[in-house]
Amino acid sequence: MKIAIGSDHVGFILKEPIKKWLIELGYQVVDLGADSEERTDYPIYGKKVADVVAKNEVNLGIIFCGTGVGISLAANKVDGIRAVVCSEPYSAKLSKEHNNTNILSMGSRVIGLELAKMIIKEWIDAEFEGGRHQKRIEMYK
Ligand code: RB5
Repeated sequence: MKIAIGSDHVGFILKEPIKKWLIELGYQVVDLGADSEERTDYPIYGKKVADVVAKNEVNLGIIFCGTGVGISLAANKVDGIRAVVCSEPYSAKLSKEHNNTNILSMGSRVIGLELAKMIIKEWIDAEFEGGRHQKRIEMYK
């Protein structure tokens, strides 16, 4: 399982420990920046992660900004991307099972590291259920 991660300067503080944790769990991680807390712009990283997910170069993407909102909006502009902002695990799990989300977004100003790990675990482990949900996803277009 290959996972692309990205953040702006605010999300960086969550991205770094999450990257380490994902690698420890055995995932292949592609870090597309940012590389520090130096001020930058979240759309750059939202689009970078979305591009590699949309091209199937990785299986999933995980992104961070202050709220998770801005970077997810940028990611969702890329065709084929279904990015969800989550601050609790239930929505994360259901977003995969029903909406087949391929990018998970979280806010470093909203949640802490341990909750982020819980959300990510539920999301990665959940599987899309297809069926009636597939039909609805096709209706997004
Ligand atoms: C940056 O200050 C902040 O706007 C950004 O991290 C994010 O929260 C945007 O949605």
